[in-house]
Amino acid sequence: MQKRVLAAGCGHGPDAARYGPSCARWIGYDFAPGLLELARADAPQAEFHLWDGKGDMPPELHDPSDLIVSRRGPTSVIPHLPALAAPNARFLYVGPTLDGPQVPERLQAIGWDVCGEWRASVRAWAPTWEDWRMRCEFMGVEARRDTWKAQATPRGLAYREERYPVLAGPS
Ligand SMILES: C[S@@+](CC[C@H](N)C(=O)[O-])C[C@H]1O[C@@H](n2cnc3c(N)ncnc32)[C@H](O)[C@@H]1O
Repeated sequence: MQKRVLAAGCGHGPDAARYGPSCARWIGYDFAPGLLELARADAPQAEFHLWDGKGDMPPELHDPSDLIVSRRGPTSVIPHLPALAAPNARFLYVGPTLDGPQVPERLQAIGWDVCGEWRASVRAWAPTWEDWRMRCEFMGVEARRDTWKAQATPRGLAYREERYPVLAGPS
């Protein structure tokens, strides 16, 4: 069955462009208007809305979703899962850590169960210094120019980092 997907913190829409066409419906939200513009250009079949996870939720997000994803995105979506989810929906969080955002505890607080937790090592790529700087800022580590200069090729900097996927659903 094709899924209706909601992406929290969709950024410039790479997942919408890659996976959206094989889904029944793809909606993304982000609090950065500039990124939403890029997402609309890259994934014209998807729908994108401006929201920061606080205040009034855009009404379009109330259309029930079978899968709600936050890939390196905000965990502030968690308290809203019951309002966003179709029956038997799943929430997939893919973050850089579990402890900081306390994902399992926050899921428990809304009565959702963790179905699985994994630790994965992924290969990633920062094409430009600005991408690398933003990635380091997101990870809470210092972006060093000397590292970039020593290791980056004309195509950018390849690196590995850990991810913690968590899959959850209503109890
Ligand atoms: C590291 S990026 C990940 C983007 C995308 N999910 C991906 O994997 O390529 C995090 C995104 O979450 C957005 N974001 C962070 N906090 C947010 C919030 N409270 N509400 C909405 N978007 C948020 C940022 O603007 C950014 O686009």
